[in-house]
Amino acid sequence: VRHLLGIKNLTENDIQLILETAREFKDVINRPIKKVPSLRDITIANVFFENSTRTRLSFELAEKRLSADVVNFSASGSSVKKGETLLDTVNNILAMKVDMIVMRHASPGAPHYLSDRIMANVVNAGDGTHEHPTQALLDSFSIQDKLGDVAGKRVAIIGDILHSRVALSNIFCLQKQGAEVMVCGPTTLIPKHINELGVKVSHDVREALNWCDVANVLRIQLERQQIKYFPSLREYSLYYGITKKMLDELDRPIVLMHPGPINRGVELTSDAADSHHSIILDQVENGVAVRMAVLYLLAQM
Ligand code: CP
Repeated sequence: VRHLLGIKNLTENDIQLILETAREFKDVINRPIKKVPSLRDITIANVFFENSTRTRLSFELAEKRLSADVVNFSASGSSVKKGETLLDTVNNILAMKVDMIVMRHASPGAPHYLSDRIMANVVNAGDGTHEHPTQALLDSFSIQDKLGDVAGKRVAIIGDILHSRVALSNIFCLQKQGAEVMVCGPTTLIPKHINELGVKVSHDVREALNWCDVANVLRIQLERQQIKYFPSLREYSLYYGITKKMLDELDRPIVLMHPGPINRGVELTSDAADSHHSIILDQVENGVAVRMAVLYLLAQM
């Protein structure tokens, strides 16, 4: 049984295959009849132990466009609240003849733990601060769409790198395709050993914006911070918040991305998020095609 647990162990060819397959599915879902029978008779459970808007709806739509049967599970309101373990929960779902598990969990490595113990495909929809592989794939797809190619592009990931699974998956995904990556944020929000991943580091948002072709902006993940946050959100927005004026004044145009949810007025002003620089809603649109590709390819293996 094959899984998508992270980007780290994918090859460049794996990534290209997923992105090329996604491109075909993007054509399909832009037709008047958006559905294909590819996963008819496959049942998929979306098992979410953490909140989600984009990823959960995007997976569900991808599954429905592929004609799979879909069940949705949220930890809140479930028997997890009565003490049932992750493995018991998933084994009970699988007993109902489910073929694939799409899982989001707060613990890094939870999908890996599961994949060693069950006979169904596991897709990681975000595991704590570790990886969010389908987000990185849809981000690369969106860069390809906008700029033609990922290879040779300079991508600055700006914000709370320390607590971000999107940052780590993007670093792996972009580097495997030949992009250069810079991370930018306050010292307290950059992991100490990030240099070992071969990325540039900046603590100056203007330097990052002047360097890059693409700025992928992340929110501050207050829910993952064990200690009192430093700097405060007010200080963060003062020193790292990106405005439309800052983007308009650059010497050359750059592409603005954000995985969502946006904290408007903190990492991005509304006029920047809603400007012509932004492809934030294109990222969301592309997520459905990319997730269709991942599910379709896993079902073939
Ligand atoms: N980008 C992302 O993972 O958004 P959600 O948390 O809403 O799924």
